[in-house]
Amino acid sequence: MTAPHLLSPVTFAGQELKNRMVLAPLTRGRAGPDRVPNKIMGDYYVQRASGGLLISEATSISPEGNGWVDAPGIYTSEMTAGWKSITDRVHAAGGRMVLQLWHTGRASHSDFHNGELPFSASAVAINDGDGIYTPKGKKPFEVPRPMAVEDIKRTVEDYRQAAINAKEAGFDGVEVHAANGYLINQFLDSRSNQRDDDYGGSLENRYRFLAEVMQVVLEVWPAEQVGVRLSPNGVFNDMGADDYKETYMFVADKLNQLGIGYLHVMDGLAFGFHERGEAMTLQEFRHVYKGLLIGNCGYDKDTAEQRISSGDADMIAFGRPWITNPDLPVRFANDYPLESFDDPSHWYGGGSEGYSDYSDYEEATGIDQAEKLV
Ligand SMILES: Cc1cc2nc3c(=O)[nH]c(=O)nc-3n(C[C@H](O)[C@H](O)[C@H](O)COP(=O)(O)O)c2cc1C
Repeated sequence: MTAPHLLSPVTFAGQELKNRMVLAPLTRGRAGPDRVPNKIMGDYYVQRASGGLLISEATSISPEGNGWVDAPGIYTSEMTAGWKSITDRVHAAGGRMVLQLWHTGRASHSDFHNGELPFSASAVAINDGDGIYTPKGKKPFEVPRPMAVEDIKRTVEDYRQAAINAKEAGFDGVEVHAANGYLINQFLDSRSNQRDDDYGGSLENRYRFLAEVMQVVLEVWPAEQVGVRLSPNGVFNDMGADDYKETYMFVADKLNQLGIGYLHVMDGLAFGFHERGEAMTLQEFRHVYKGLLIGNCGYDKDTAEQRISSGDADMIAFGRPWITNPDLPVRFANDYPLESFDDPSHWYGGGSEGYSDYSDYEEATGIDQAEKLV
């Protein structure tokens, strides 16, 4: 057996994935105000179906979870049907796709909620002068309303229903978004979570909300089809506390005990670093989490190959390079040049321009590749 490499297959949930490249979840704001997945979103995902596993953009589990203009949801039958038309097309193109389940918590604004404040673990605002884009323009972040226990219980049930809808929509699994400063991360982080009840204080208590979410999701999906995303080094949405290492080792150990299908760790620092100590590494997570480990953030072909050949990761997720290079695995396999991803003007919102109109290298150059490597 040859050693694993980026373009060699790997097994996820009993199915062979054709390579170890994962499309990172990328919010692109193309669903429109009704948040229903549409045709150009399907075009975009199908164009990227040469990846071993596609992770959808973050997708709201409930109206309360909304906090991004024109991002999709999975809480109505129209949304579920919209996603189904996308998973059908991705499967027909030979791809596998999981849905990222999202609740923004305090990374939202009352403009998204008919004037009601968004909620979070505690009444602690995001300290970020940049503010947030709302349907009414750019606004400063607000102090969120701390969640009552009934808010927590209702939100956990929203996760359950979203997980049910994701199954009906034909996904190959779900990824619980516990990263990048959104609601679950707001409970894990000891700066944003200042509760003094069962959901705050100790590691066990700060993990409790995620534990309850995992419980309901695992009642809907087999554990092997469920992943979780963590960002132990991230500063995005004002994250990072001095006890980050203990927190994330504790969480990884708990998730390992649940036997979930994969753990997705943003180990790289290219998306912002809290600088509270040494960055956590994939090796540290390897020690406690024994399932499929996905690394992400700032990887290129060579650094991804290194992580896989050293055994530090089983798969690597790519975000920005895949935006402008829809055929990224084919480009890596053939050492084709990459389009630059440095122009973010089309990242968030708009139509097909800067979204589903990037070309495959072979199509653009007319190369007739008789023997495809991927
Ligand atoms: C335009 C854009 C949208 C993103 N949306 C999401 C998202 O919906 N969910 C998420 O977990 N991360 C999101 N991220 C973070 C990416 O998944 C990824 O972690 C980040 O881009 C670093 O990986 P890269 O260096 O390969 O791009 C987003 C990043 C970008 C640039």
